[in-house]
Amino acid sequence: MRPFLIAPSILSADFARLGEDVDAVLNAGADVVHFDVMDNHYVPNLTIGPMVCQALRNYGITADIDVHLMVKPVDRIIPDFAKAGASIITFHPEASEHVDRTLQLIKESGCKAGLVLNPATPLHYLDHVMDKLDVILLMSVNPGFGGQSFIPTTLDKLRQVRKLIDDSGYDIRLQVDGGVKVDNIAEIAAAGADMFVAGSAIFNTPDYKAVIDEMRAELAS
Ligand code: DX5
Ligand code: ZN
Repeated sequence: MRPFLIAPSILSADFARLGEDVDAVLNAGADVVHFDVMDNHYVPNLTIGPMVCQALRNYGITADIDVHLMVKPVDRIIPDFAKAGASIITFHPEASEHVDRTLQLIKESGCKAGLVLNPATPLHYLDHVMDKLDVILLMSVNPGFGGQSFIPTTLDKLRQVRKLIDDSGYDIRLQVDGGVKVDNIAEIAAAGADMFVAGSAIFNTPDYKAVIDEMRAELAS
């Protein structure tokens, strides 16, 4: 398996001083910035859009920005995020009329592409698009809010998707999002994940480096 990636979700960052907070978490050892986009339509919450992504780039953030779109419709916002500096764009298949077309649109925009499956979304959405995926994101909470508890049935789903990826031979990251903490990250990794989104576990503590170091120690155990 490739090196583990830790992707703090800036949903739990301090929006009043976002650039500084993102800088701090990257300096603390985070690999990727996870950017949660919610539209109060596909999910019951409202967050940030391409302008904020661009603002982070203007501030000097050079790390990969992993844009998790929880919006419906999906397609028309993709070029805006690509222009604003997104590196990876993932979306929920239920929010797109034409999943294959949306994946192509992301790739044509120059970004890596991924599908996000909610806790109750079946794996068959992956069946005919494995060749177009750079990332598969399994939600381990229902999308919309930070600070929820990890849904344990995700572990079995992770094992199934890990097998699908390995059998496919494609180079696809297996990302998990929701309720990831120091005390469950090792078990989640053992189930097959190699990219970990964590919001409240990192940003709701005073010492980001301490938490990220503890997560890496768990991953190495
Ligand atoms: C939920 C978001 C997550 C969330 C994770 O819809 O996609 O990225 O912020 O937050 P925690 O780590 O607090 O569960
Ligand atoms: Zn997310």
